[in-house]
Amino acid sequence: MKKAIYPGSFDPVTNGHLDIIERAARLFDVLVIGVLNNQSKTPLFTANERVTMLQEVTKHISNIEIYAFDGLLIDFCREQNAQVIVRGLRAVTDFEYELQLSQTNRVVDPDVDTVFFTTNLKYSYLSSSIVKEIAMYNGEIDAFVDPKVAQLIRQKMKENRS
Ligand code: PNS
Repeated sequence: MKKAIYPGSFDPVTNGHLDIIERAARLFDVLVIGVLNNQSKTPLFTANERVTMLQEVTKHISNIEIYAFDGLLIDFCREQNAQVIVRGLRAVTDFEYELQLSQTNRVVDPDVDTVFFTTNLKYSYLSSSIVKEIAMYNGEIDAFVDPKVAQLIRQKMKENRS
C-alpha cells in the first residue's frame, strides 16, 4: 500500500493546496495531510481549526486522513509508515527551499522520498500569506479559497479586530 504525506502549515488551506490534494490522492492509496503545529510561528488558525477546515473541504475524497503533527516531518512519516512526501512547486522561487528540505529529509531517512507536483497555473501565484493579507484589509478572497474557508477567515479577522 502506497502511503504519502502532504505536510504544510495550511494556515489557511487554499485552492492551490486543494488542487494538489486532489491530484496526489489519485496517485496514492492513502494521502495523509500533516498539519504542522509550529510553536515558533503565530498562525491565524490553531492546528485543530486547520485540521477541521481541511476535513470540511476534502469530504469528497475518500482516501484521506488528516492529523496535526509536532516536531520533525521525517518522524511523522515514520510514525505514519509513509514512504513519500508530497510538496507543491509554484515557481522557481520555491525550488531552493524545497530542494534543501527534500535533500535534508533524505539524508535523515533515505527510505522516504519527496515527490513534487507543479502547481496548477491557475494558482501559481497563490499562498496562504497572500490570502491572509488581502483578508486583513477586507479584500475579496473568494477566488482563492473554498467558500467555507473564506467565511472562517472573515470571522477570525473580525474576532482579531475586536
Ligand atoms: O506549508 P509550509 O509552511 O511551507 O510547510 C513547511 C513544512 C511543514 C513542510 C516544514 O516546515 C516542515 O517539514 N516542518 C517540520 C520540521 C522539519 O521536519 N523540518 C525540516 C528539516 S529540513
